[in-house]
Amino acid sequence: MQQTEKIRIAPADGKLGVLVPGMGAVTTTFIAGLEAIKRGLGKPIGSLTQLGTIRLGKRTEGRSPAIQDFVPLARMEDLVVGAWDIFPDNAYESAVKAGVLEMPLLEQLKVPLSAMKPMPAVFDQEYVKRLNGPNMKPKGSKMDHAEMVMDDIRRFKQSTGVSRMIMIWCASTEVFRQPAAVHATLKDFECGLQKSDPEISPSQIYAYAALKSGVPYANGAPHMTTDMPALLELARSQNLPVAGKDFKSGQTFMKTLVAPGLKSRLLGLSGWFSTNILGNRDGEVLDDPGSFRSKEVSKSSALEYILQGNLYPDLYRDFYHKVRIEYYPPRGDAKEGWDNIDIFGWLGYPMQIKINFLCRDSILAAPLVLDIVLFMDLAQRAGMRGIQEWLSFYFKAPMHAPELYPEHDIFIQLMKLKNTLRWMRGETLITHLGLEYYD
Ligand SMILES: NC(=O)c1ccc[n+]([C@@H]2O[C@H](COP(=O)([O-])OP(=O)(O)OC[C@H]3O[C@@H](n4cnc5c(N)ncnc54)[C@H](O)[C@@H]3O)[C@@H](O)[C@H]2O)c1
Repeated sequence: MQQTEKIRIAPADGKLGVLVPGMGAVTTTFIAGLEAIKRGLGKPIGSLTQLGTIRLGKRTEGRSPAIQDFVPLARMEDLVVGAWDIFPDNAYESAVKAGVLEMPLLEQLKVPLSAMKPMPAVFDQEYVKRLNGPNMKPKGSKMDHAEMVMDDIRRFKQSTGVSRMIMIWCASTEVFRQPAAVHATLKDFECGLQKSDPEISPSQIYAYAALKSGVPYANGAPHMTTDMPALLELARSQNLPVAGKDFKSGQTFMKTLVAPGLKSRLLGLSGWFSTNILGNRDGEVLDDPGSFRSKEVSKSSALEYILQGNLYPDLYRDFYHKVRIEYYPPRGDAKEGWDNIDIFGWLGYPMQIKINFLCRDSILAAPLVLDIVLFMDLAQRAGMRGIQEWLSFYFKAPMHAPELYPEHDIFIQLMKLKNTLRWMRGETLITHLGLEYYD
């Protein structure tokens, strides 16, 4: 494969601000993790940027540097987090309520976590029906709210002295909506903000404020935010990267591991039933049919795209796929997922696979937040703008160009991510052809 030109990447000098709408289970697990790791109380398990390596050149060369030595990433010590939430709890109180991390660890981090207080949120109960809280921005138009978020961003930058910022949505899942007329162009969207158009969601107000302030935006939840022409137009005109959506952390992660394997052996699929019990606030929000619909759509598409029923009609055209999430408070964040997979082999003989994943949702999601933030910052410094498809690895419903189908196979996604890093550094892309070893 041809060697590429090295891309100019600005250095990761100074501090990197991480702006997070939502300071619940995922955000507090992420922040507490940063503080714990800085103090040597834990390791960044699950993070490709911190623990991953990348092979360069031929297998005979023995070059496999750490990813963080290969591309110039911000260091964990240089991250400064600012968040918004509808509840006024500081990060310590919120982490205690979320119940993900154990009290002895949280007690050791009480001082830095208690100092982190959320900014008042932009919120609309039409978009998250099961929640309501007191820490909101004063009444105003949607444009007023966007300007208030821009003020927050300016103040955050001044008070912390960060040199760059990334915004990543870790707030609740909003109800399912399709793009409407107000999302068609930036002009329509800005007009809609002035008129407080009901089709503009709080997450779109945050995203607009971020992009207007020169801050890249990533979406960790399944609802639509920047997946529409108006905000993509803004991202392009501001030369900013966007990425999303919905962290690929638990059951869909498992699905995108198993489905490519079945397909590689051309084993057929007649049905895949996935169900979860989940007792945290996210589970409560997803108990509302509108928010669940956003999750259902994002969770459902992976199998169809991986298995390509149009190309393999005998194997994958007619499989039955069902996804359920049940809110079950006693479990808290310790989600349990069951997958029943009905497959068939030689001569159509049926077989079954059962997966019972006893996971911890936020423990799986926190390293993804870290990686997405660091890679989005790298993308920005490398001059990459618009949809960052190379970050599909992290998302259940990866954003993609309209003329493409999304790539869901986690192994292809990882190859794409690493080839993008090689491309940035002018290294030969790896095709795995390998004929040269046998010449
Ligand atoms: N944990 C995972 O593995 C995982 C995986 C994929 C996606 N997600 C998504 O990540 C998001 C966060 O998950 P979580 O478990 O931390 O949920 P959570 O309920 O613990 O935290 C979300 C927080 O967002 C706040 N919030 C809601 N609307 C807001 C708004 N408009 N502005 C500011 N704050 C707002 C809520 O008050 C809450 O504190 C959810 O959308 C979830 O679906 C999580």
